[in-house]
Amino acid sequence: MSQLRQLQLTLAILKPDLVAQPRVLKNVWTRMLENGLYFVLSKQVHLSAVQAEQFYAEHRGKFFQDRLVYFMSSGPVWCHILCGDDVIGRWRRMLGPTKVLKTVFNEPESIRGSYGLTDTRNCAHGSDADATARKEVGFFFPEFDFEEWYRRQHPLFINDLVEFDPEKMQHIAIPNT
Ligand code: RTP
Ligand code: MG
Repeated sequence: MSQLRQLQLTLAILKPDLVAQPRVLKNVWTRMLENGLYFVLSKQVHLSAVQAEQFYAEHRGKFFQDRLVYFMSSGPVWCHILCGDDVIGRWRRMLGPTKVLKTVFNEPESIRGSYGLTDTRNCAHGSDADATARKEVGFFFPEFDFEEWYRRQHPLFINDLVEFDPEKMQHIAIPNT
């Protein structure tokens, strides 16, 4: 029996270095839309140091933890639930590798290669697997119900019956569909 096609969900965070540069931020949103990524839900958040530490709990004790937590709580971030075919891989490929200082030479066209400032101030985050995406979406969007979304919204997205609303920063159902 053939498998039904299913869109994947992921969490993107546009980090404080990128949000602080409005023209760069706009350019990144344009890249995301031109790459066919759908925005399911968006919100701007200013993390406390405690929240940033919780979000990056996997990095507790690493040498860069303090600078990471300080950076992530230094200004507002944009959080987006994205969907699309293989969106986890596609978004991470658009970002480029973590280490900006190498990426500038190896993948200059990627987002981090274009705009990253340092290995820590590297523009954006993307979940690295389905299970991580569920956990990370839950962290920022506790109200988001995956099962409900797949039941009610997924059919619209998979048939491209949505359009981007720049006011809401999300794709919404095309009227009368
Ligand atoms: P992310 O989790 O933010 O999507 O990034 P990633 O998977 O590509 O990289 P990861 O290893 O999970 O590291 C998380 C974030 O920590 C900061 N970092 N700074 N040497 C350093 O100063 C250093 N190494 C990592 C980056 O902000 C990285 O994205
Ligand atoms: Mg990571």
